[in-house]
Amino acid sequence: KANAQWGGRFAGGPAAIMQDINASIGFDKALWRQDIAGSKAHAAMLAKTGIIPAADAAAITEGLEQIGSEIAAGTFEFSTALEDIHMNIEARLSDRIGEAGKRLHTARSRNDQVATDFRLWVRDAMDGLDQQAASLQRALARRALEHAATPMPGFTHLQTAQPVTFGHHLMAYVEMLARDRGRLADARRRLNESPLGSAALAGTSFPIDRDMTAHALGFDRPTANSLDAVSDRDFALEYLSALSIMAMHLSRLAEEIVIWCSAPFSFIRLSDAFTTGSSIMPQKRNPDAAELVRAKGGRITGALVGLLTVMKGLPLAYAKDMQEDKEPVFAATDAASLSLAAMDGMIRDLSVNTQQMRAYAGSGFSTATDLADWLVRVLKVPFRTAHHVTGRLVGKAEAKGVDLADLTLEEMQAEEAGITADIFSVLTVDSSIASRTSYGGTAADNVRAQATRWLDTLGTA
Ligand code: ARG
Repeated sequence: KANAQWGGRFAGGPAAIMQDINASIGFDKALWRQDIAGSKAHAAMLAKTGIIPAADAAAITEGLEQIGSEIAAGTFEFSTALEDIHMNIEARLSDRIGEAGKRLHTARSRNDQVATDFRLWVRDAMDGLDQQAASLQRALARRALEHAATPMPGFTHLQTAQPVTFGHHLMAYVEMLARDRGRLADARRRLNESPLGSAALAGTSFPIDRDMTAHALGFDRPTANSLDAVSDRDFALEYLSALSIMAMHLSRLAEEIVIWCSAPFSFIRLSDAFTTGSSIMPQKRNPDAAELVRAKGGRITGALVGLLTVMKGLPLAYAKDMQEDKEPVFAATDAASLSLAAMDGMIRDLSVNTQQMRAYAGSGFSTATDLADWLVRVLKVPFRTAHHVTGRLVGKAEAKGVDLADLTLEEMQAEEAGITADIFSVLTVDSSIASRTSYGGTAADNVRAQATRWLDTLGTA
């Protein structure tokens, strides 16, 4: 039989396979709260502008609230024949309240309806993830304060570079997350316009009040072009872009965790709560959560690329392709939320092998730059020359199989006659770290100040 909502001009019903490919109720039922909120705002506006009787709007509001309770209670029967969440709710409303329910869709289309619902959903998701990202920042900053003076090897090319502190390293991720949150906030500002009232694509002849619905739904203003409003999914793409960059950051931290807890490194140990065992190798403690955070970053980026590709060939205005905008956004949101929560748990719980980190912080000639800097500062040697002299000393130490600080003063003077015993004072890990007092540098006091500043900003929630 023909579709109850749009079947007027049809003699027959859709093929089963047509229903299957067309229906979105399997996933867009997630929009039910937003759909009800949008319909309530629309109905109130229709009554206020005299487009429908006030009594009908009251019946619609009550009916929608009851439907909300049914859905929340799990007693609502979703129908694939009714395609999507919008028609499922509208059909049920007419079942419950009769004629009045059939007036709800006046001056509205599913095109502006879904654009509105989806914006509301993404806005809530942004707010939820922002809170989670703030929580992770807090966890990182707390551990950073605790380890503001704990030396670890700093790497470039994953080769030992210069000593840093573990706290400094963790604070780098606090900064990244701050930018991630900034990107979400920027996207939220542009998202926050109401498409409702754009109708199918051209606007409507009814004397609607778009400011009223926009404000009722917490939007800053109505969108200015009806064609743009029903065909724009920039808000979803910007959201996925922001999530992709954030997930890339989480993935880098996850990769570092995997490296740090491997036996040859043994810098950290994840708690039992965030580790899994092997079914065959009894000794194993696997960092599965970190690996999965790393993997989810790939899938979140996949969601962005997938939706960009869906959108790129679409002429204005709405096309059914756009129905496929929701699954990538829902999946990416779940993945991002789980990743943030798992990272939060790992960071809070992990224990630090400070001795191991300190030992490696001093290996690999990590204070060679300090030696070169000493030659510049004390002997006024040009840096490039100092670099060369230091390189020769590193070569000497390497040939002897010792650290720079184990060379004798005579061996040093053979390369640069002016060197005095004072040079040994800059060759320790602690002196190296303590000397990096430039703004943003790794000196423990700097790290403490940054961590404290962030903890103040973030509050204790
Ligand atoms: N389920 C549809 C979607 O998610 C709603 C809009 C349908 N509009 C239409 N003209 N078929 O995009």
